[in-house]
Amino acid sequence: MSNNLDSWRRLPAAQQPEWPDRGALERVVTKLEGLPPLVFAGECDNLKAELAAVARGEAFVLQGGDCAETFAGATADAVRNKLKTLLQMAIVLTYAAKVPVVKIGRMAGQFAKPRSKGTEIREGVELPAYRGDMVNGLDFTPEARTPDPERLLQAYHSSAVTLNLIRAFTKGGYADLRQVHAWNQDFVAESPAGKRYEQLAREIDQALAFMRACGADPEEFHTVEFYSSHEALILDYDHALTRIDSRTGLPYDVSAHMVWIGERTRQLGSAHVEFFANIRNPIGVKLGPTTSVDDALVLIGKLNPDNEPGRLSFITRMGATKIREHLPELVEKVTASGAQVAWICDPMHGNTFEAPSGHKTRRLDDVLDEVAGFFEVHRALGTHPGGIHIEFTGDDVTECVGGGRAIVEDDLALRYETACDPRLNRGQSLDLAFRVAELYRSA
Ligand code: PEP
Ligand code: CO
Repeated sequence: MSNNLDSWRRLPAAQQPEWPDRGALERVVTKLEGLPPLVFAGECDNLKAELAAVARGEAFVLQGGDCAETFAGATADAVRNKLKTLLQMAIVLTYAAKVPVVKIGRMAGQFAKPRSKGTEIREGVELPAYRGDMVNGLDFTPEARTPDPERLLQAYHSSAVTLNLIRAFTKGGYADLRQVHAWNQDFVAESPAGKRYEQLAREIDQALAFMRACGADPEEFHTVEFYSSHEALILDYDHALTRIDSRTGLPYDVSAHMVWIGERTRQLGSAHVEFFANIRNPIGVKLGPTTSVDDALVLIGKLNPDNEPGRLSFITRMGATKIREHLPELVEKVTASGAQVAWICDPMHGNTFEAPSGHKTRRLDDVLDEVAGFFEVHRALGTHPGGIHIEFTGDDVTECVGGGRAIVEDDLALRYETACDPRLNRGQSLDLAFRVAELYRSA
């Protein structure tokens, strides 16, 4: 185990902002280094143990949230709506697929975005691209788009607020299984998936009533374990929030329980891979369709040399048309190497396209097809389809097309609110959960 937490500085770090004032950045970093942890190392270890069960084939990951969280979006309503969507999805999977679900939010820290281009041009004006609220503002003005290190502090505080809400909701009664009906209120209750959910919730109610009559009322029914995660993109931030755990003497990035490396920063020899090698959190790596078997094996050697189960998840994001072609060899060779990884399917990022209106969108059908391909590949190889990683929101947005209450391309402008990629709305997320449960069961 290396304790060289600064070794990443010698290596190329892609996708970092050009801070106009290094001194200001350094002052912020010093402040961040003095702030309390957002999560505890022991909680990260608990998640690692749950992910080890996923790697063994005994549990399923449900990871999701916004593509890009915003500071303005850290409201009680928005956090509760995301949480209840995830809880509804988890209940569908737990009840219909009979599998324990590991719940991880792309929440409380998902504030930085990798971009394909460093600048954006509108009507002849060129400005720095929006890189997430942690770096700059979405408004297309020079003031908003100039990277501002004070935003790193705001990201910390916004994460703290969100995490506080999550902890209160999940431990304070809201996640109690007796609330299964309450999670289905408002617009989603009238959707086809909402009606299907109501039926399932009634069955759960009956089962609970029966258990209570028998005198059984286990603690697990009253609270849930919920973990935070984000793409650790801005290394100055995640490094400043890395602490040595007093129990074990080992370093953890205490800005989230799990962090992942994106498709654009996972190059071998990159600063990101180096930083991740030296923290002890459970980590993920996104793998796109160009990933070679060699890439995957070298990443495993670097990031999980001791083959610790639960430490490393591969989050594949191939695209619906490519997954059946590209995933089999990767899974087969990685499995043959003896490496223990959890395989998670991100059916979003390989399926983005631009609608005629200019909106970036995704078809729910493509998302469902990639997930189906993921299950087919794993079933054919006898490996475990370990989970899904999605972009969704708890609100009634119109960003992705399709679904039980179908959104068509002409609807996209109605309620298109994402700061980055298009998200599934709550009805579409429930549609997806029912489909995943079917796929899981029919294996
Ligand atoms: C993301 O998860 O929002 C993202 C940018 O994904 P990827 O790294 O897979 O492109
Ligand atoms: Co995204």
